[in-house]
Amino acid sequence: MSTPLRLGIAGLGTVGVGVLRILRKQAKLLQARTGREIVVTAVSARNRSKDRGVSIAGFAWEDDPVAIARRTDVDVLVELIGGSDGPAKAATEAALRAGKDVVTANKAMLAVHGQALAELAEAEGRQIRYEAAVAGGIPVIKTLTEALAGNEFTRVMGVMNGTCNYILTRMQSSGLSYDEVFEEANQLGYLEADPNLDVGGIDAGHKLALLASIAFGTRVAFDAMELEGIGRITIDDIHQAADMGYRIKLLGVSRMTGRGLEQRMSPCLVPAGSALGQLEGGTNMVVIEGDSVGQIVLRGAGAGEGPTGSAVIGDICDLARGARLSVFGQPSATLAAAKPAVSTTPAAFYLRMALQDKPGALAKVATVLGDNGISIHRMRQYDHAAALAPVLIVTHRCMRADLDRAIAAMAATGVVEGVPVALRIEEV
Ligand code: HSE
Repeated sequence: MSTPLRLGIAGLGTVGVGVLRILRKQAKLLQARTGREIVVTAVSARNRSKDRGVSIAGFAWEDDPVAIARRTDVDVLVELIGGSDGPAKAATEAALRAGKDVVTANKAMLAVHGQALAELAEAEGRQIRYEAAVAGGIPVIKTLTEALAGNEFTRVMGVMNGTCNYILTRMQSSGLSYDEVFEEANQLGYLEADPNLDVGGIDAGHKLALLASIAFGTRVAFDAMELEGIGRITIDDIHQAADMGYRIKLLGVSRMTGRGLEQRMSPCLVPAGSALGQLEGGTNMVVIEGDSVGQIVLRGAGAGEGPTGSAVIGDICDLARGARLSVFGQPSATLAAAKPAVSTTPAAFYLRMALQDKPGALAKVATVLGDNGISIHRMRQYDHAAALAPVLIVTHRCMRADLDRAIAAMAATGVVEGVPVALRIEEV
């Protein structure tokens, strides 16, 4: 008869409660699948007496998550506190040093301290599992590290922040402004405690940095990511991108090039009819391209009690079965330092601007673009009552640096009001 796997759970928010519910509801199934009973021995959270809709009466209580990590009746620390530093990191380090494996949903901690934690885990002969940290219920870490281990990856990309996708798709369907939909998302409880983690692209950037490390065998390099959030997307952009056959997504793209590792998390246009273009609401999508497998598309819930709890339980089951795997899919000493490369892959761009409606204005803009080697693919000028004409240009593929030079030169034409909005059109 094998011994039970004993868990200490630190953090009883949405995900922690989801984990407790699945452990209770599926106890027999989990035992059948892993050959071991999985039990919770101790828990910790900020508030002991809070009504969570799930009983914690049978578990030992610790005020300090580090104390959970050090308990002799705990085999695995399940870290669901969050935050890159503070108690989450302290408890994780304490658990590894005390000879325990760690399951976590903490993308920020791994994106910032992943290499050091991987080295510590290896030195202690322990495991860190974090399927729930990226794209909620979607098993993307397993897919990259295990199922697709035979592939050289060419590109990993995706929509990995459900809140941003909710905001952008809700603007599209309702015609409401960014500020109105942001407030709606806030009322619905979709936003992180610090909303900039969501709308500033940081949460999704953390996730992409982890995937890039696994896919390209590099040390996690969140600091080197080109990062831009969705705060400057207006309802006009949403409407006009749609009019040209596109949808706007907060899209992460990473690829290895001859110059180094490109990692970009930014609002991009994708074709409305593509799988990414059709992604609605809080759903996530990760697209993986490998030399042998071709393109794989994974789609599912990126957050929430059930989906994120499901990912945590999958990791717990792996540990119960005795599975071993390096944190980033290969020993940490073999991960190369990431050489960051600003993305120079040519792309078509969407350019929105307000032009003074007078003879020769459009010609001046076309000249500036032409002078910088940029060719116009499609163009629309919309009907307008005011003196300024809304103009939309889709360029042929060009270099971002050339476009930036053209945009800088537009002020001198005297016909462009303000700075044009430029968004990359990603080939998907
Ligand atoms: N706030 C995230 C999202 C979930 O909206 O997708 C946690 O990473």
